[in-house]
Amino acid sequence: MTASAGRIRARSAELARIGGAGTSVTRLGLSPEERRAHELVGRWLERLGARVRRDEANNVIGRFGGRGPALLVGSHLDSVPRGGRYDGALGVVVAVEAMEILAGARLRRPVEVVGWTDEEGVRFGIGLFGSAAAFGKLPPRARERADAAGTSIAAALRALGLRGDPARARRRRGELFAYLEPHIEQGPRLAERGLPLAVVSSIVGILHGRVTVRGRQDHAGTTPMGQRADALAGAAEMIARLEAAARRRADAVGTVGEIAVAPGAKNVVPGECVFSLDLRAPHQRTLDALVREVRATIGRVAAARGLAASLDVLNQVPVARLDRGLRAALRRACAAAGVDAPELVSGAGHDAENAQLAGVPTGMIFIRSRGGSHSPRESADHRDAALAASALAHAIVALAG
Ligand code: GLV
Ligand code: MN
Ligand code: MN
Repeated sequence: MTASAGRIRARSAELARIGGAGTSVTRLGLSPEERRAHELVGRWLERLGARVRRDEANNVIGRFGGRGPALLVGSHLDSVPRGGRYDGALGVVVAVEAMEILAGARLRRPVEVVGWTDEEGVRFGIGLFGSAAAFGKLPPRARERADAAGTSIAAALRALGLRGDPARARRRRGELFAYLEPHIEQGPRLAERGLPLAVVSSIVGILHGRVTVRGRQDHAGTTPMGQRADALAGAAEMIARLEAAARRRADAVGTVGEIAVAPGAKNVVPGECVFSLDLRAPHQRTLDALVREVRATIGRVAAARGLAASLDVLNQVPVARLDRGLRAALRRACAAAGVDAPELVSGAGHDAENAQLAGVPTGMIFIRSRGGSHSPRESADHRDAALAASALAHAIVALAG
C-alpha cells in the first residue's frame, strides 16, 4: 500500500488556499472559511464512495461501509489566526489518502473520516470543540458562550445552517470502536532524530482560562503613583510570576497569548485588564500544582495592589494516556510502512484526548514537521505524510479489515 506524496501535496495546497495568504492560513473554527474546507473534504470523501454528513456541532464526517461500530480517523480543519498550513489539515489529508489507497479493499467494519470543527477554540475559548461535542465533553452551557462581539456559539451554529445545539452531535456509546488521528508533530524532536513518524504515548493536560483584573481608571498625569489601582501593571506582575512558576517545573509551560486593556488610552491609568491563560503539563500532578500556584499568585498580587481579580476557567482537559493496544498496533503499522517509529508525548492538545477520555480507544501518529507550529513557518514534507498515510492504511486494515 503506497500513498502518493503528490496527491497529498495537491490536496494540502487546495485546502491551504481556503483562508490562505502566502504560507499563512487563517481559518477559524465555525467561520465561513472552515465551512468551505469542510465542503472540500466532503467532496473528496464522496468521490471515494463515502456517505458524507455534517453533525450538529459542525463536524464533517464521511462514512465508508454499512452498519455497526465504526473506526474513526481524522483531525481538524480550523487554524489559529495567521497559523500554518499543516496543523490539523495535514492529518485530514492523510486520512483521506489512506482511504484513497484502500479503495477497493473490502473492509469488514465501517470506517469514518472526520474533519473536526474549531479544535483551536480561538473565537469562543473552547478548544477541541467539535470532538468535545461528539464525545460528551463540552463545558456546561457551552452553546451560550459568546465571542468578543457577543455572538453565541448557538447563533454561530445557526448561521452555518445548524440548529444551535452542539450537544446533539454526541456519539452514542458503542458507535465507534476506536479513533486514530494523524497530526504533524509541531515540535523539533523528530527532525532532530532524523525520523519521519512517531506514535503518541500521551497528551498533556491543559487549563484554558481568562483572568479579569479590575482597578480604578484615573488620570495618568495627576494621579500620584502611590494612589493608583492600575489594572495593567497588576496583570503584568501576575504574568511575570506565572512565567516564573512554569519555568520552575521541568515539563510545564504557561502562556498568556491575549491581553486587552480598558479603556485603552495612553493618558489613562488602566481600569481593567483581561488576559488569557494557557497552562499545560504532561503529568496531572504538575499541572494541578501549577494551576494552584497561579491562582494563589493572582490573588496575592491583586490584594497587594488593591485590585480585584477573578479567574474564569474556560476549558480543562486532563492528561490523556493513549490506548496501549493501539499504540502497539500503530507501531506495527509504521513498521509495515518501513518506519521504526518511537513514542513521543504530545505537548499540543488534540481531539484525540476527548475520544480517549470518553472511553473510545485512541491512537495518534505524529508526522515530522519543521518551523514550529501555530505560525506561517510551520512546514512538513509530503513524503513523510505519505508514509503516515501508508501506516494509517495498514492500521485501518488491521483494525477494520
Ligand atoms: C492546539 O493546537 C493546542 O492549543 O494545543
Ligand atoms: Mn493547533
Ligand atoms: Mn492541531
